[in-house]
Formats: sequence, C-alpha cells, structure tokens
Amino acid sequence: MASTVGSTIDYKASYASLLDDYRARTSLSAAAWQRGRLVLPGGETRTVTTYSPYPTLIRKGQGAHLTDLDGNHYVDLVNNYTSLVHGSAYGPATEAAVAVLRGGTIFASPHESQLRLAEMLTNRIDTVELVRFTNSGTEAALLAERLAARATGRHKVLVFDGSYHGSAPELMQGHPQVVTAPYNDLDAVDRAMTNEIAAVFAEPFLGAGGVIPSAPGFLRGVQDLAHARGALFVLDEVQSLRNDVGGEQAKLGLTPDLTLLGKIIGGGLPIGAVGGARDLLLLTAPGTPDRLTHSGTFNGHPAATAAGAITLAHLNAGAIDRLERAATTLAASITSSAAQAGMPLVVTRAGSILNVHFTDTPPTSAAHVRETNTDLLSALHLALLNQGVYTTPRGLINLSTALRAEDLAKVEEAYAKAFERIARISVKPGHPSGQWPVPAPRVAAERVSVTK
Ligand SMILES: Cc1ncc(COP(=O)(O)O)c(C=O)c1O
Repeated sequence: MASTVGSTIDYKASYASLLDDYRARTSLSAAAWQRGRLVLPGGETRTVTTYSPYPTLIRKGQGAHLTDLDGNHYVDLVNNYTSLVHGSAYGPATEAAVAVLRGGTIFASPHESQLRLAEMLTNRIDTVELVRFTNSGTEAALLAERLAARATGRHKVLVFDGSYHGSAPELMQGHPQVVTAPYNDLDAVDRAMTNEIAAVFAEPFLGAGGVIPSAPGFLRGVQDLAHARGALFVLDEVQSLRNDVGGEQAKLGLTPDLTLLGKIIGGGLPIGAVGGARDLLLLTAPGTPDRLTHSGTFNGHPAATAAGAITLAHLNAGAIDRLERAATTLAASITSSAAQAGMPLVVTRAGSILNVHFTDTPPTSAAHVRETNTDLLSALHLALLNQGVYTTPRGLINLSTALRAEDLAKVEEAYAKAFERIARISVKPGHPSGQWPVPAPRVAAERVSVTK
C-alpha cells in the first residue's frame, strides 16, 4: 500500500478500528459472552474457540454458511476445525443420524452403524485391519498409547514439537513420559529414540503447529527408526484422512502400526477411533488373556457412526481432488493479494487444509512458526470476520465440499481487502500475541515483499 510506505503508522489506532468494527457488528455475542463467563470458566468450553476481545457466537450453520447471534452471515473456512468436510448440517449425514436416533438413541449392544463404519474404514485404509471406537481423537490417542505400552512393555512416547494429539497430558510436551523432537529433523529423532520409547506419534503434516508438510522421506525415516528401536509407529490421521481416500499414509507410503482417526469419521458428531494391525487391536478383545480394558458408555455412538459412514462414502477421490484444486487456487490468490499489499506471507497447505504465516520463508518446524508474526494473524482474523469470512485466530483454514465458486470469490476478495487494511499494522516478531507495541516507523526499504 503506497499510502503506508515510508510513513509513521499508528498501529494501535489501526487495530483499535478493527476492534470497533467487530464490536459494532457483534453486540449480542458480547452480551452472551458476559453471560457465559458467569457459568463457564473463561466463558467457553473449548480453548480454540476463544479469542480476543470475545468470540462470535454462531447460532446456525447450513452448508458453507454460518449465521451469528447478531444475524451476521459468514462463509465458513473453519468447519469445526476440519471435521465438517461437507459443511454444516450436511443433508445425508443429518438424515442418517436422525433416522438412527428415531430408531433408538443408543443400545448397550453391538449395532449396525458401528459395523458399517468399521467395514468402511478397514476397506479404505490398508493398514487398518481392526477398529476400536472412542468418543474423541484424544481418547483414541490415549488408547493407542496404552496399546503401545502393553505391546512393548515400555512407557514413554515420542511426539513432535508443535504436534497435537488431543488434550491429554500423557501426550503433551512437558509430561515426564513424553519426549519431544523437532518435526522434519530425522537426526534429532535418532538421538531421542531411546529404548524406553514405546511409540512415536506423528501427524502426516504438523497440523496445529501450522500445517507444516513433512519433508520428503522424513516420516518413512521416523517409521524405520521406530521399528529399528523396537517401538511402534502411530500415525495420527485425525485431520489428514480428509486428504486421501486411504489416508495420507497411502500417498506417503507409510505403514503405521496404529492409526488415529476422528473428526470427519463422525460426520460432525463426536467420535474417535484407533485402527491398525490385528494382533495389536486384539489386545482389547474379550478372550485375550490379561486383556486391556477399554470401555466407554458412548463409544462408537450409533448416530455418529451412521453420520460418519455416509460422510465418508461421499468423500471419494473425485471430491478430494476438487477440494485440493480449490485449496491450491485459494492459496495462490491469498499469496498474491498479500504481495500486492506489500506484506510478507507464506501459505502452507496439506490437501484442503491451509495456514497463512506472516513470514517470508516457508516454515518447516513449529519453532519457525513461533518466530512469525502472530499479532498480524489476530488482526487478519478480525478483519476477515468483519467481512463475513469465518476463519481461525491462528491462520488455519480448510475447505468443505459445500463451498461454491461465489463463496470462494467472496473469500478471495475479503483476504485482499483485509491485507490492504492490516498492511497499516506492523508489529515486530517477538511481541506476545495480543499486545500492540508502540510502532517503529517503517520505510520502504525495510518492507519485505517476498511471498512464496
Ligand atoms: C491431529 C489431531 N489429533 C487428535 C486430535 C484430538 O481430537 P479431539 O478433539 O476429537 O479429541 C485433534 C484435534 O484437533 C487433532 O487435530
């Protein structure tokens, strides 16, 4: 933006004006937030749905469109954090779930929709011979960890910096049983792989850490190292299953011992699953001596498994290909409009999941992502919400098959306008997110306009 180059910019005022616009559009959400804080710690039940100054309360969703409490409309690029691959209230999934519920909410017995979904998953994913359902991806990860401990007699796990396998401390950095290595650094994995490690947990791309693709051969190397050291290789496909009929393991040539599943396999309802090698899964089977007890009142809920089966059936190779092409086009458009606004920006992408980063070099690790300008991400988030595009505060977006050409055109235009607006806000990397430091004057020569 020529008007901003070479001038001293009032950053605080620029951000404040975005906030003013946001508050003006969302007064009912603000009131609901105040109400929520009286009964919910911090006002909400999920961490990722909370952001400054308060989150928009979404009241209704249909296809790729959301409506908030104040009646504002949004194009949805969040899809409940990648779980609604066909958009909100997808007709076939909703009908399947309702039909199941009408016939009996849940039974303490085997049921057909669980059976159908298990058959479908074992057909689609080569390494999945048997499936055990849970209520969430977190529970699936915990079950996989227990299976690995039982199979190896070891109790530590290796996870990657910036990875996310759910909110159980046993799989998070900082826990005494969890060893961490940087993603895309095979030497570091080699050093960390002691004979105490029961399993390595990896995602096909670093999801929550910024949608960082795995370097060619990296995960094959990790899998080989795990096996060479007597550990299991667990691939977390909770997010990535949407990117390939057989999971990303099919295109990466991986053969994990266990695969974690969730999100889309419930068609928008709560679910998780562990799939994998028969001998490992049989450790949970009745009749196995000293079997691993795994139970749960709502495991493999009939409504979720019914909605999930139809969702997967409609996510064929053609649909995945269309999603991927739309994501490629959107990434190019976002990159080009940031360049036009003179903002350094990289869009990382894995299939139909993307992440924008305010930096001029493609990040390859979570450490690199942490060095990028997250303050600008907050501004971008607000600027997009103000224009009716629903995205995440961390720059993650993903596509659904419900998006139409006109929705994507609106999204592209909104990004272009948002970049023009926030090009006036420049915060040096290193400032804690949400704090707006006194600006240093910028001159044209300092402006990096490299985009990838
Ligand atoms: C890769 C990955 N694994 C596991 C989980 C945990 O799933 P859930 O939120 O269903 O517990 C998530 C959730 O975002 C995820 O992205």
